[in-house]
Amino acid sequence: MEFKSRTGQPTKARTQCLVAGVYDKKVLSDIAKTLDKASRGYISRIIKKGDMTGKVGSGLLLHEVPGIAADRLLLVGLGGKAAMDVGQYQNLIKSTISKLKITSARNALLCLSEPEIKGKDARWKARQTAEIFAHTMYSFTHMKGKQSAKKPTLNRVEMHAANRTEQNAVNKALLEASAIAKGVTAARNLGNTPSNICTPAYMARESRKLARDNKTITTTVLEEKDMKRLGMGALLSVGKGSAEPSKLIIMNYKGAPRSEQPYVIVGKGISFDSGGISLKAGAGMGDMIYDMCGAASILGTMSAVAELNLPINVIGVIPAAENMPSGSASKPGDIVKTMSGQTVEILNTDAEGRLVLCDALTYIGKFKPRTVIDVATLTGAIKTALGKYPTGLFANDDDLANDLQHAADASADRIWRLPIWEDYQTQLKSQFADMANVGGREAGSITAACFLARFTKKYRWAHLDIAATGFTSSPKGATGRPVPLLTQYLIDRC
Ligand code: BES
Ligand code: MN
Ligand code: ZN
Repeated sequence: MEFKSRTGQPTKARTQCLVAGVYDKKVLSDIAKTLDKASRGYISRIIKKGDMTGKVGSGLLLHEVPGIAADRLLLVGLGGKAAMDVGQYQNLIKSTISKLKITSARNALLCLSEPEIKGKDARWKARQTAEIFAHTMYSFTHMKGKQSAKKPTLNRVEMHAANRTEQNAVNKALLEASAIAKGVTAARNLGNTPSNICTPAYMARESRKLARDNKTITTTVLEEKDMKRLGMGALLSVGKGSAEPSKLIIMNYKGAPRSEQPYVIVGKGISFDSGGISLKAGAGMGDMIYDMCGAASILGTMSAVAELNLPINVIGVIPAAENMPSGSASKPGDIVKTMSGQTVEILNTDAEGRLVLCDALTYIGKFKPRTVIDVATLTGAIKTALGKYPTGLFANDDDLANDLQHAADASADRIWRLPIWEDYQTQLKSQFADMANVGGREAGSITAACFLARFTKKYRWAHLDIAATGFTSSPKGATGRPVPLLTQYLIDRC
């Protein structure tokens, strides 16, 4: 999908579909008024007939409107003139796309910069619009045996800017949107790839590919023998029951001198989570191909950062393993030693995410990170706590939490903070080891974060639990979150 800005008179624009807004109660937007004039009142006469109200979600497709160069004119409802909120604007764009999709237009010119959104400017609107277009037009179909006949689809979207200043803002927005959309697409593709193909080795290959495509990135992969030498007993315990060897993938992006401390992002890469010996129930287990969506978001963010040539150093790390039951698998009650020296009693082999993450989080200490953010489909409990809209945020540093909150607002990739108070740590007590890997029924997402907190004391750290936001179950699919959030956080650091 290609995005462009355009100024000049919309009446004269040669496009397959011009899109303009109509407010509630049949009030034309300024742009629609101009078009109406050029058409000598054709548009207002049709509106008066009542086929189009101007409510958000309403629309009317007109062909060969007199006085207008465009092939089609799509009128979309903008609702009342009062400023709309972010959700309403997103709905406006989504409903516009579904109306465009049923035409055979291959390109469109959007003249939708008029509606005001609380606290957002032209640049924000353009970026959101482009991101929503890219997101909505995405499909994951290459594994279908026979491609259904390709009908012409929209592949170029132009956005109308009122003047040069607005055009500059729109251009900046589109540059960011394209990089983010590319990262989101990469994350969704990797996330959607089933676990018979997307193994830890496959993730390593994809990460190497990213380094081949971007000179600013170097990828290194640690093998099981390397991890054994480093003492990563927790990470290695997870893949023990699997025929697929575990990997620790390190992607190093250099946008600043070596002397500058890097931002480190770490993603849980469980290519399939059966639960191990603590086997999950059968229903819905297929969703566990998405247990590497954290890893996928790291790869997607690295891609976006490289695309934008950000003048900072960023290191993306993926502990990758498959969690399977077998004669060689970890068993409930086993005790392992982590790279940090702390020991863990594995009371439930299904709490494996924290086991791969804790060793990765210890390992990255050597990079002297400026901040560390991990992303993981860590707990089913986060959906119980927060539902499916926000990603769960945990942090040992208020400034970092606030910076992330700010980035979430700017990127419309929402998060909500939960506490990691010392009180909860008692739930992780183990009789025989330094800690257990599960903390009982209460506050499951918090005790998981508390477990990680024991390995992240030496730096400013945040944890994002995306178990409810990284993918959806019906229809099935990876969302690419939190690539927009992470990329925005890193853009803000420049
Ligand atoms: N990958 C799961 C968490 C998950 C569940 C992600 C549902 C997406 C949807 C994780 O490894 C897990 O199994 N967590 C357990 C933790 C429990 C054993 C303490 C859970 O959530 O039940
Ligand atoms: Mn699990
Ligand atoms: Zn898992």
